[in-house]
Amino acid sequence: MTNHAIKEHKSHGKFERIYISVSMILGANMTVKGKNGPAVGSDEHMERRGMVLPFTPLSLAFNHVNYSIDMPAEMRTKGDEGGRLELLKDVSGAFRPGILTALVGVSGAGKTTLMDVLAGRKTGGSIQGNIFVSGHPKNQATFARVSGYCEQNDIHSPNVTVYESLLYSSWLRLSSDVDSRTRKMFVAELMELMELNPIRDALVGLPGVDGLSIEERKRLTIAVELVANPSIIFLDEPTTGLDARAAAIVMRTVRNTVDTGRTVVCTIHQPSIHIFESFDELILMKMGGQIIYAGPLGKQSHKLLDYFEAITGVPKIRNGYNPATWVLEVTSSAAESQLNIDFAEIYFNSSLYQ
Ligand SMILES: Nc1ncnc2c1ncn2[C@@H]1O[C@H](COP(=O)(O)OP(=O)(O)OP(=O)(O)O)[C@@H](O)[C@H]1O
Ligand SMILES: [Mg+2]
Repeated sequence: MTNHAIKEHKSHGKFERIYISVSMILGANMTVKGKNGPAVGSDEHMERRGMVLPFTPLSLAFNHVNYSIDMPAEMRTKGDEGGRLELLKDVSGAFRPGILTALVGVSGAGKTTLMDVLAGRKTGGSIQGNIFVSGHPKNQATFARVSGYCEQNDIHSPNVTVYESLLYSSWLRLSSDVDSRTRKMFVAELMELMELNPIRDALVGLPGVDGLSIEERKRLTIAVELVANPSIIFLDEPTTGLDARAAAIVMRTVRNTVDTGRTVVCTIHQPSIHIFESFDELILMKMGGQIIYAGPLGKQSHKLLDYFEAITGVPKIRNGYNPATWVLEVTSSAAESQLNIDFAEIYFNSSLYQ
């Protein structure tokens, strides 16, 4: 399959099928087009980024995933003692190499739950459905080696510098057959990628007391995850608690990471227009753990806007209004009951889902 054919294929946005075709051509020469940058993963890019340690780009696809837990005691009502609480309902989608996916939804919709289930971080509850890594059923032991997860809070040792944090992590997280020179070159590459060179020798310090700012800490957290050289990275709310400028810096380095051909998924909360539009694809969840949109955002979110504006009763977006805020407003539970519609059902019957 030629690169052209792959792009053609991609542009039609058929999730389930793409990951198969991407996996067929997985390899060092895969070309992935960054949203704002040059084609990456090409030979030219390898040179530019160095690629000290190669990794295999991997896609992650999930099909009809359900997740439920035992009904917590405080939520039990008389009569449903063995009841289950469903946190994810029939969710399907895919994350692909070189594509930055946003996971959006109101608080409590199930964004973190979905990432945890896909990343294999849930120890309780029952998971049903299929998860595939580049077309192969996911195996947790191998998946742990190719994926990274950045939790919302950043935990670091305060008494070391940024460079030391990364170097020590590389000792712990890279296989012992990576020699010390390669290790250092790899750390240098990540420092560049995450724009950490200006604070290379800064002490990490304690959050809110001294040392790195929240934004710098976040970039260090991502860098520490990248030290293990993962192909797939999950980021839970990397921009929460940051002002617009700081959030933009973090997102720029996240984009750098995506442009190396890695697969990156971020949950985001109240993103600015600028940040929202830096994503390639969106998975939108509603309360109750259901997906109501999964697909490309399009230029200035036009694909998302076209999809929801076409639904009878949904008001058009005002000029200049934040599309992320708008979509959460028009799909809220209140809006659903007012219009007497179920956005999950509409999505299931849409051409987007088929
Ligand atoms: N262990 C648990 N026991 C009971 N309820 C849970 C448990 N874990 C998650 N939930 C519930 O599942 C739902 C989804 O939670 P989740 O943390 O995934 O939401 P979220 O979309 O990440 O929200 P936020 O934007 O606030 O981070 C919530 O209603 C939450 O209360
Ligand atoms: Mg969350």
